[in-house]
Amino acid sequence: VDKSSQRLTIAIQKSGRLSKESIALLQACGFKFSLHEARLLAHSSNQPVDLLRVRDDDIPGLVMDGVVDLGLVGENVLEEVRLERQATKLASTVQRLRALDFGQCRLSLAIPKEENYTGVKDLEGKRIATTYPYLLQNYLQQQGVSASNAILTGSVEVAPRAGLADAVCDLVSTGATLEANGLVEKEVIFRSQAQLIQRPEPLSAAKQAIVDQLLPRIDGVQMARE
Ligand code: PRP
Ligand code: ZN
Ligand code: MG
Repeated sequence: VDKSSQRLTIAIQKSGRLSKESIALLQACGFKFSLHEARLLAHSSNQPVDLLRVRDDDIPGLVMDGVVDLGLVGENVLEEVRLERQATKLASTVQRLRALDFGQCRLSLAIPKEENYTGVKDLEGKRIATTYPYLLQNYLQQQGVSASNAILTGSVEVAPRAGLADAVCDLVSTGATLEANGLVEKEVIFRSQAQLIQRPEPLSAAKQAIVDQLLPRIDGVQMARE
């Protein structure tokens, strides 16, 4: 028997808006980790728990495929990956264990500040730069608008000035990025916060026991800082 299969594996974002708070939450729940910047895997020294530090975009798929047991990820990424995997017929279910009190942001449509805007219909026939093509198309379809995606993996906010798009659909938290790029937020299409998710297949009894201990601790930590 592979001993590692007895250890609960939790995927968290390696670097980005959720990283620090993800680790802080798990530490506040009593898990001790020694984190080495370069390492993908961090073992807890006081619990049979391992942290896997990866790109946030990879977390939902790892949980949906049961490669890891739990994941801490933004709802925006979770929903985008779910839609994408549904469209491509890959496993797309997870168990949502808790909504967490950090990582609040919204996915919004924004346009250059000098452009007129009367409503989402103005985007008909336009090109919209995004890293969230499925959430965007879902929204546009509901609104009865047909626009084309310019799919970028980053730097979406520079697309209008670079002549690549007429609008952007990107995450907004403070609004500083839009502001710095002469863009104005016009529609919020999705509101997001961090989520704790679990793989769809049941856990071993040993792993389930750790999760049963973790959840009330998370509730306690979150209640204390409300
Ligand atoms: C998002 C988004 C903007 C920034 C907005 O990027 O793409 O760049 O955050 O935040 P603000 O409103 O506070 O300026 P994120 O940090 O999620 O990283 P990524 O674009 O590399 O995925
Ligand atoms: Zn990302
Ligand atoms: Mg960005």
